[in-house]
Amino acid sequence: MNKGRVLVTGAAGYIGSHTVVELTGAGYDVVGVDNFSNSSPQMLDGIRQITGSPLTFIEADCSDRNQLARVFEQYPDIRASIHFAAHKAVGESVQQPLKYFENNLTSLLNLIGLSTADGNSRGIVFSSSCTVYGEPDPENLPIKETAPVKPATSPYGRTKQMCEEILHDCTAACPGLKVIALRYFNPIGAHPSALIGEMPAGVPQNLVPYITQTAAGIRKELKIFGNDYPTPDGTCIRDYIYVVDLAKAHVAAVDRILGTTGSDRYEIFNLGTGTGLSVLELVNHFISATGVNLPYSFAPRRAGDIIKVWADPGKANRVLGWKADTPVDDVLRSAWEWEKKVRGIR
Ligand code: UD1
Repeated sequence: MNKGRVLVTGAAGYIGSHTVVELTGAGYDVVGVDNFSNSSPQMLDGIRQITGSPLTFIEADCSDRNQLARVFEQYPDIRASIHFAAHKAVGESVQQPLKYFENNLTSLLNLIGLSTADGNSRGIVFSSSCTVYGEPDPENLPIKETAPVKPATSPYGRTKQMCEEILHDCTAACPGLKVIALRYFNPIGAHPSALIGEMPAGVPQNLVPYITQTAAGIRKELKIFGNDYPTPDGTCIRDYIYVVDLAKAHVAAVDRILGTTGSDRYEIFNLGTGTGLSVLELVNHFISATGVNLPYSFAPRRAGDIIKVWADPGKANRVLGWKADTPVDDVLRSAWEWEKKVRGIR
């Protein structure tokens, strides 16, 4: 069954590539766009191998309106877009805020403009982040979509908040536009085929790529940032969600946006498992699930880290009919299989 055409920006990226696979499997015709600023064309080969079908792909920079306009000219039947294309390095955003505001905001403005230019009804699914909640008050955990949005702790986080506000206002003014903002918690893992996965440039900043690179012998040891937090074992707590589960939520969001059931034209969903795990717990899961030695030591806290945050995914469970239920050991094994594949380790 062909469910129509969906544009995926950032299609070669970590979450984008997994989402293209799930959309294709669900019967959507995908047109992928990426400028490879933080991804590789190799990922497109992985997608094609998994799906066993050709992938329509255009190399384009979404922050260049003319480049993105050509995609809509070529495919005027695009019914909805999933917008992943954005810069996402928190630390870099503090050093180079303008780069983040220019790229992340301009890309979204171009996408909204082109999605609404011809008077057709279109949907946009937006990649947002739990970073919009900042450090949640303990009585707000697990965190619901109604929890207050706090001042962002980085320009990256601020772009997510600003993009949500822009989408909210544009939806109110443009009857043809429907938007779902998805606030991701911490995506981890790789496709079970090990043909696509996370490919951080340089030294990984995120926990799981650092763990797998350490296990592969590329890094000497994992430094656990802070063991004196007010948590049971002193390390920070997050809600780690399997990237394939996350990708499936995007299919559910597109189904909803293109269906007739949703009444609100702007909706927000938290995407997490509902369970918080400490850094130490995650490390121990990795060791027991893979049987691999993982040298680690404790180091000072990392500036800007949130102590504990995990999702109440109840709204997404009910309304999208979606649930993240892959066991964390399976998820960590998938991350390790991908790392081994990339490094040629048997
Ligand atoms: C970070 C960003 C978040 C972004 C997300 C993307 C911050 C404050 N937040 O989330 O906005 O959406 O990445 O995936 O940067 N850790 C270690 N050692 C390491 C790496 C991480 O102990 O080498 C710890 C961190 O201190 C944290 C946990 O692991 O407690 C998770 O870190 P990370 O994977 O970077 O994600 P977040 O900080 O939650």
